Amino acid sequence: MKETSSVVKSFKESIFATLTKKAHKNQAINLSQGFPDFDGPQWIIHLAKKSLEKGDKHINQYAPLEGIKSLRQIVSKNYKKFYDLDYNPNTEITITNGATEAIFSTILALVNPGDEVIIFEPFYDSYLASIQLAGGIPVPVTLKTNDFKWNSNELREAFSSKTKLVILNTPHNPSGKIFDTLELEELSSLIKEFDTYLMSDEVYEFLLFDNNIHLPPATFKGLKERTVTISSVGKTFGLTGWKIGWTCAPESLSHAIRMVHQFNTFCVNQPTQDAVASALEKLDDYLPGFREMYQKKRDLFIKGLKDCGYNPIVPKGTYFVMVPIEEHTKLNDVDYCTELIETKKVASIPPSAFYIKGDEGKKYLRFCFAKKDETLKAALKNLSS
Ligand SMILES: Cc1ncc(COP(=O)(O)O)c(C=O)c1O
Repeated sequence: MKETSSVVKSFKESIFATLTKKAHKNQAINLSQGFPDFDGPQWIIHLAKKSLEKGDKHINQYAPLEGIKSLRQIVSKNYKKFYDLDYNPNTEITITNGATEAIFSTILALVNPGDEVIIFEPFYDSYLASIQLAGGIPVPVTLKTNDFKWNSNELREAFSSKTKLVILNTPHNPSGKIFDTLELEELSSLIKEFDTYLMSDEVYEFLLFDNNIHLPPATFKGLKERTVTISSVGKTFGLTGWKIGWTCAPESLSHAIRMVHQFNTFCVNQPTQDAVASALEKLDDYLPGFREMYQKKRDLFIKGLKDCGYNPIVPKGTYFVMVPIEEHTKLNDVDYCTELIETKKVASIPPSAFYIKGDEGKKYLRFCFAKKDETLKAALKNLSS
């Protein structure tokens, strides 16, 4: 029998799946994967029920390839309102099956075999797989701990005439960092100098603490025309299972993305799009309570970790926290993570899975605090025992 695809053969089970199984087996409290252990807002779930029962005979059929009009329109309205960015809902916004499909479709749409793609490590794991499936060559630039800044020389050296695409994630999973104006200006000038595209993954755009502000790279001079901005509602509404995301990009890039989307999933389920379109109208009312809830969770968890003798890197955004482990153990991240699952019954993520060049990830664990307060308190109790 002939072999399956050599790229696919190189893929292993994701660290999340492995750790989730291990956590179950050990009955550990699971602070590994990034999703809430509580339901999303009931008012949005109610909207979805209403969408299903609208009696519109089309609602349960295929949606338009590019997404339903009302959803594209509110996404467009929100980019204008929050960031003063103009995207034409007809030609520049495409609804996808979560940010993950947006990432995959964007990379497949832009990258030819042999093109180089700059990724900042630690990175969200789907970037690497999508680059490899497109036949691209990942060029990692390590964000140096503890402030997760790149080294300017290393960044410049990563660029070449072969660079096609740069991938940035802000606010950043797993560090909780928000890239600032100076960093984005530096990156922006290299992107323009080397004539590359930027894919900006902003799925945590509204999950910010301490009045921090999210800066979409597309707002920087000369970047919008070469940037694909990606977001989704999974994190913002705590509905990760709904898988509604989008890309915002100039028409020619959006067209290419739509062509990949067309032959991959074709479209996104319509009742959920309909509900999300209504929910996104209410972001102004929703966001203050959402941020307050997560700020309290972050503060509770950070304080608890400090009480356990850890020295966590306080995240500015996202619902993850990176915790240095060197003062606690001689073990690397994978072994210490396993030890905590087996002995303290608490599961986290070993961040070395998010690196291909540097080995800084071995000195940390990543915890997700998108959990009920009782879950966080129980985990902290176990960790302190
Ligand atoms: C940085 C980042 N990008 C994208 C995603 C995937 O988003 P979605 O669930 O909308 O596919 C995640 C989910 O954890 C993420 O952390």
